[in-house]
Amino acid sequence: MLLLACCLAAAYSVQAQPSGLPLRHPLTDPPAPSPSVQTQYWFPSHPQLQFPAGTPIDVVVGIHNVGAQPLNFTAIMGSLNAKDKFSFFIQNFTFTEYDAYVPAGEEASLQYTFLPDGSLPQLEFQVAVQLFYNDQQVQFSNTVFNRTIDIFEVSSFIDFQLLGLWALVLAVAGVGGFFLYKYILGMPFMKQDRQRVVLAICTIDPHLELMCVFLSVGSPSQHHVRGKQAQTTSTAIDVI
Ligand SMILES: *[C@@H]1O[C@H](CO)[C@@H](O)[C@H](O)[C@H]1NC(C)=O
Ligand SMILES: *[C@@H]1O[C@H](CO)[C@@H](O)[C@H](O)[C@H]1NC(C)=O
Ligand SMILES: *[C@@H]1O[C@H](CO)[C@@H](O)[C@H](O)[C@H]1NC(C)=O
Repeated sequence: MLLLACCLAAAYSVQAQPSGLPLRHPLTDPPAPSPSVQTQYWFPSHPQLQFPAGTPIDVVVGIHNVGAQPLNFTAIMGSLNAKDKFSFFIQNFTFTEYDAYVPAGEEASLQYTFLPDGSLPQLEFQVAVQLFYNDQQVQFSNTVFNRTIDIFEVSSFIDFQLLGLWALVLAVAGVGGFFLYKYILGMPFMKQDRQRVVLAICTIDPHLELMCVFLSVGSPSQHHVRGKQAQTTSTAIDVI
């Protein structure tokens, strides 16, 4: 991680400090903003600022050059920090370079993608996104975004989806059961019992034999029905 930080710093200083100034990490003491630049941000897939851990997050940075000089927008870098202690950097996101020339009065937008670590706990953190740019002489940077966000674990998201799947399976089974119930009620031997049958429990064994137990309200007796297949006709049925 230290190595990565050193190389990011080196990449940045090559990009932004060609005059041989001391190496500087882009997020440590970044250059001041220019009054000529207005920024906006939006998170197209996560507008509620709830980020699943281990999932790439896109942020679109809108830029308006309201000054009189053209500007070159050269890089974006983000970080994830402790919620109440910004100086505690938990994760530094990729330093992404851009080559966006924006003339005076023009607008542009850049998309930056960062990846909150998959092992982050389900907590609130601070995320900051820093935009780097320059005119002919001076380096600038703006803090485009600096807010509290929610990290949530993907596993709970999957559990939620599984729950939905189970609900679907149960619904399909319920509808199937209803039609099976109607089908069995329609069988000739059931006709005289129609009013009394309230519950049918059916199983299909590995030999594709359908076994149903009918519990009736009208009489204490139970009917056991065995058939060869689910589509058995009434002739193949014998009542035990
Ligand atoms: C992230 O960047 C900050 C600010 O420059 C630096 O102090 C910190 O050591 C870096 N953290 C990691 C984990 O690279
Ligand atoms: C922007 O970058 C281009 C090419 O890298 C360079 O020619 C131009 O002078 C730069 N303009 C500003 C305003 O920095
Ligand atoms: C982000 O906001 C926190 C307070 O909420 C502040 O301490 C910190 O300096 C800000 N960071 C940047 C890069 O603006």
